[in-house]
Amino acid sequence: MAGAPAKVLPRHVAITMDGNGRWAAARGQTRAAGHKAGLAPVRMCIQECGQRGIEALTLFAFSSENWARPAAEVGSLMGLFFEALETEIAELHERNVRMRFIGARRNLPVRLQARLAAAEERTAGNTGLKLQVAASYGGRWDIVQAATELARACASGAMRPEEITEERFAKALSLGTLPDAELLIRTGGEQRLSNFLLWHCAYAELFFTPRLWPDFGVTDFEEALAFFASRERRFGQVPGQRAP
Ligand code: IPE
Ligand code: IPE
Ligand code: MG
Repeated sequence: MAGAPAKVLPRHVAITMDGNGRWAAARGQTRAAGHKAGLAPVRMCIQECGQRGIEALTLFAFSSENWARPAAEVGSLMGLFFEALETEIAELHERNVRMRFIGARRNLPVRLQARLAAAEERTAGNTGLKLQVAASYGGRWDIVQAATELARACASGAMRPEEITEERFAKALSLGTLPDAELLIRTGGEQRLSNFLLWHCAYAELFFTPRLWPDFGVTDFEEALAFFASRERRFGQVPGQRAP
């Protein structure tokens, strides 16, 4: 809109896409159908972030704890990831999206692992939206794998324990040098982290909405961005202390 003041945008948006099962149950459909219906808002969010010049988007698709769901549901989710990558990758590449997957990928089906690697390789040179999909991901897993990497480096003599800084630790986490999540959106009404990006959400603004993920639309996304723009981010300082 001409003349409208520029809104402060988050550099990195993280989304916990929750509520697919309840969305399906309300329609008398299978949970798998609910997950499938969750693809449309995924596309929408990628498009909106890309068009607005948001640097990074990280989507929570499957947690380390979700492995404990009934085998049939886990199987249908793995099948859906596999198919969705096949159908979406060309368009994502065309949109200049750089894709990465975070999580314990060796727990995923082998043919899915190969497809993830191929998608990462194909889009590695893209310079648009940095899209991370968290699958078999847990924030605690992430912290432990980073600690293990640093412990190995210390044990081999490649680094000294005194050299472990917050910056060095963050680099060993699965998001590497990406900026911290600035806005965390969670659909589905629950107000918890469920082990997502524990380190990177230290100062995230938290936007919870009762909207179930398959119903999450552009106006909901805009509402979340407006919420973010309305916050005064103090980072421990006092009101007005930080430059706007
Ligand atoms: C989120 O929706 C998708 C995954 C966790 C894979 P849910 O499947 O958790 O849906 P609800 O919370 O049961 O409605
Ligand atoms: C969080 O949703 C995980 C994902 C959306 C992938 P859950 O449905 O698994 O979380 P809880 O069990 O309600 O905490
Ligand atoms: Mg859920």
